[in-house]
Amino acid sequence: MDKDRRNWLIATSAVGGVGAAAALYPFVDSFQPSERAKAAGAAVEIDISGMQPDEMRMVEWRGKPVWVVRRTPEQVAELSKIDAELADPDSLRDPAQFTPPYAQNQWRSIKPEYMVVVGICTHLGCSPTPKFEAGAQPSLPNTWQGGFLCPCHGSTFDMAGRVFKNKPAPDNMEVPPHMYLSDTKILVGEDKKA
Ligand code: FES
Repeated sequence: MDKDRRNWLIATSAVGGVGAAAALYPFVDSFQPSERAKAAGAAVEIDISGMQPDEMRMVEWRGKPVWVVRRTPEQVAELSKIDAELADPDSLRDPAQFTPPYAQNQWRSIKPEYMVVVGICTHLGCSPTPKFEAGAQPSLPNTWQGGFLCPCHGSTFDMAGRVFKNKPAPDNMEVPPHMYLSDTKILVGEDKKA
């Protein structure tokens, strides 16, 4: 495992929920609305300048952790292959209510390079942890190419936040409404209305 990946895993593997995450991660504060506005759901901005492949940044939106992950070129390519190789493509659920129109593609994102999801398991609300080593645990589905593993009951999500059907999470991780303000800024909580 290379050094950057190991560091990323160490930095992100201990997250157990919103409270724990807040203690471990410095929430991005390039734009911080008032506490009252945040509780009411105000949009929050996240600075993605200088992000490296495999790096994750997080911002709190409506009391939930929103993850931005910069995917590696290999992860981007892998997501394109997964649908084609699955015997049952429907096994990767993608309910429309969790996926804005601009993210209804194989990456579930506006830009293939950046994943933007609510970092909460859709089963009972635990926080999935990064687990990139496909095949590292025999209990994992052999079609799963790595991504995120929920420590509570074993749901596996790929690098687009899609859950594999044989685990208890009923839905993919939510893609929040978001939009790019520039090449280095994402606004979470608002999007461009069609
Ligand atoms: Fe994630 Fe149960 S809370 S699998």
